[in-house]
Amino acid sequence: MIKLTIDGREVEVEPGTTVLEAASKLGIEVPHYCYHPDIGIDGNCRMCLCEVNGNTNKLAIGCKFPVGEGMDVKTASDAVVKARKGVLEFLLINHPLDCTICDQAGECPLQDYAYRFGPGDSRFREPKRKGPKTVEFSDKVMFDTERCILCTRCTRYFEVVRDSRPIGVENMGGASTITLGPNGPITDPYQMNIIDICPVGALTSRDFRFKQRVWFMDFADTICPGCERGCNITAGAYQGKLLRFTPRRNPEVNKSWMCDDGRLSYKTYNLDERVRGATVAGESVAMDDALDKVVELVGDGSGVAILASTVDTCEELAAIGEFAKLSNIEHIWHGEKSWEGDDFLKLPDATPNTAGAKALGFTNVPDEAPALRGLIVAGDVGVPSRLLESLDFLVLQTPVAGALGEAAVVVLPGRTALEKKGSWMNHDGRRQAVKPALDPGADVPADWEIWRDLASAEWTSFAELLALANASLPEVAAIGTDEYSTIVGPNEQAQHLVIQAAKS
Ligand code: SF4
Ligand code: SF4
Ligand code: FES
Repeated sequence: MIKLTIDGREVEVEPGTTVLEAASKLGIEVPHYCYHPDIGIDGNCRMCLCEVNGNTNKLAIGCKFPVGEGMDVKTASDAVVKARKGVLEFLLINHPLDCTICDQAGECPLQDYAYRFGPGDSRFREPKRKGPKTVEFSDKVMFDTERCILCTRCTRYFEVVRDSRPIGVENMGGASTITLGPNGPITDPYQMNIIDICPVGALTSRDFRFKQRVWFMDFADTICPGCERGCNITAGAYQGKLLRFTPRRNPEVNKSWMCDDGRLSYKTYNLDERVRGATVAGESVAMDDALDKVVELVGDGSGVAILASTVDTCEELAAIGEFAKLSNIEHIWHGEKSWEGDDFLKLPDATPNTAGAKALGFTNVPDEAPALRGLIVAGDVGVPSRLLESLDFLVLQTPVAGALGEAAVVVLPGRTALEKKGSWMNHDGRRQAVKPALDPGADVPADWEIWRDLASAEWTSFAELLALANASLPEVAAIGTDEYSTIVGPNEQAQHLVIQAAKS
């Protein structure tokens, strides 16, 4: 181990650690643009300059400079502060005054660093460089030449992470620009990640651009429901409508990435029509009356099966399991949904919690399913037609009833993946907290509350349910109530974004 001092504080790190990494271990921020933990070091932006061993004539770039025994590093000395101001003054020479109309405003490290570390003025009086502002890199990504600070994160993302070169740097010196390669528009199914890592508003999402200022939005740190990888994401919403998903860094699950399909799937969770309140035989009834009807239909439980969605959380599935046990329902099955996976993140199981369902005792629907008297469908799940053949009754508890709604005796509301609180277990057994980005309103209670009331359960609170789920799942997968939070407001999000920018 190597011992050094940064801003007067001692730290011990592995040999080969960079000054920037060692500083971040102490919680000391070294501002940077071109370095990215999941792409690597390039050393082109000079934003990360630090003073090493009192050498004020030759500052070192913290992103690349390796630590040494007894080293004395200063990240905010007079020389560093002056150099940073100079770097920012240069970067801003040709940067347009677009902040008022730029989608990156509010989450832009150039804007933030200019405020925090910049000179506050410019000595540049000449006209700024002009360039095309709406270059279509693809049907998903728009490029603004003028805003680019040429950090090359985007080109290196494709080279390092995707092993491809759809874009590159063209020309030299002040004429340098990022440009499309000879094969035309980018087609990579993970191309939208370059939008997130671009530290300025040069690369914007054609889907999200000009839709909303980020400081007006609400954000929830949650998990992508698209497949059983369980990519960590931040869901952004405005006035009850989702506007975007962006990846949240988790080095052990998805690093800083997500697939474009998962990213754009947010649209499917903005429901125009949905089940609100309960119905029995098509008539609106009080929720308690509908639940009484379900209990009456289930009777002694014989010939009844539950088919649960693998979008349901572990906690909801634990509550469903309790209801099944108390009602003597023998068959508890989970649904299936697949799509084409790939060799990067996308997995063939297109639901987030199959592992959780299996761990809680739910099984695949058998090929030769027994003749059923009744079927209870819990959550957003496709129902195999063979299960519907001999039914006396069908109960649906779902966000959208669809064609089956008319055949159901009882229809109960359900929450979508983006309205749930709980956890999903991904394909390698990692249980991750799922937090609601939207609140559907009082006439769509949380799914677990419906199952609690159906089971007349002794437990009443979410914390008690969590303890129940924890007891039924492998110990390693247990999570605590602290990991859950409600929707994050705009102010916390602004803070969150500053923290994110500092971290990545
Ligand atoms: S487009 Fe963005 S990520 Fe790419 S080089 Fe320019 S500033 Fe960097
Ligand atoms: S790989 Fe799966 S979990 Fe990750 S973003 Fe895509 S769909 Fe979502
Ligand atoms: S030179 Fe160090 S982050 Fe760019």
